[in-house]
Amino acid sequence: MNTDRRLQPAAELPKVIGHRGAAGHAPENTLVGLRKAHELGARWVEFDVMLTAEGTPVLFHDETLERTTNGVGRLADHRWEDLRGLDAGSWFSPAFRGERIPSLHQALAVLGRLNLGANVELKPSRDQEATTGVIAAKTLQESWPATLPAPLLSSFSEKALAAAADQAPEFPRALLVGKVPGDWQARCDALGATALHAGARHLTRKRAQEIVAAGYALRVYTVNEPTAARKFYDWGAESLFSDFPDRITPP
Ligand code: G3P
Ligand code: MG
Repeated sequence: MNTDRRLQPAAELPKVIGHRGAAGHAPENTLVGLRKAHELGARWVEFDVMLTAEGTPVLFHDETLERTTNGVGRLADHRWEDLRGLDAGSWFSPAFRGERIPSLHQALAVLGRLNLGANVELKPSRDQEATTGVIAAKTLQESWPATLPAPLLSSFSEKALAAAADQAPEFPRALLVGKVPGDWQARCDALGATALHAGARHLTRKRAQEIVAAGYALRVYTVNEPTAARKFYDWGAESLFSDFPDRITPP
C-alpha cells in the first residue's frame, strides 16, 4: 500500500459537515438528504457506502434493510435491481415516501450539480471489507465530479481503507474510531491517514489536544448541540459532523 502522506492533496474541509446528508431533517443517505444539506448551507456532506450483492456501491448505513426501508434482510444479499424500488423515506416521515436508496453514481451526479464536497465513509458489510474499499475507490476515480475538491475517504474498517488506498492513493484518508485507541497514530500512519474521525461520546480534551498537537486533523461525530460543538472546537477539532448542520455555529 502506498502510505506516503505527501501524495494526498490537502482538502479544505469546512467546519461543519452534514451527517448522512442532513439526517436530522431528511432521511439519511438519500438524494433528498444531500439536497437538504446544501439548502441548509452545508458545503460538505458525509455518507455511508455499502455494496449490493453484485457489487454496486450504494448509500446505506445498516447491515440490514429494516430500519430505514420497507425491505427485509441484509442489503448485501440483494441485487441493486431489487433494492432500487424500495421506499427509503417513509420511515423518517410520510412526506418523504418514495425516496430511494441511491447508487453512489447517482449521489455523485447530485454532488456535482450542487457543488457539494463529500466524506465518503466505506461501510463494508460482513466479509466485504477489501472489495468495498476497491470498488468505492474505483467508482470515485472514474466518476468523481472534476469541479469538486477530492473526496475524503474514511472507515472504521482498516482493511477497507487500506484496500481503497491501494486502489486510489491520491484520495485523502481518515481513520474512523469510536473511542480513540492508544495506538491511534500508528494506525493512521499505517494507512497514510492524515486525520482521525472520533466519536463525540468518548473523546477527552487530553486526547483531542494530543491528536491536534501531533499534526493530524481531528473531526468529531455526531455533534448536534451548540454547546458540545463549542467544546470540541475549543479542543482543536477542525470539523464536526452534524445531523443538523444548521444548528452548529463555527467559531
Ligand atoms: O463518519 C462519521 C460517522 O458517520 C460514523 O458513524 O455510524 O454514523 O456511520 P456512523
Ligand atoms: Mg457514517
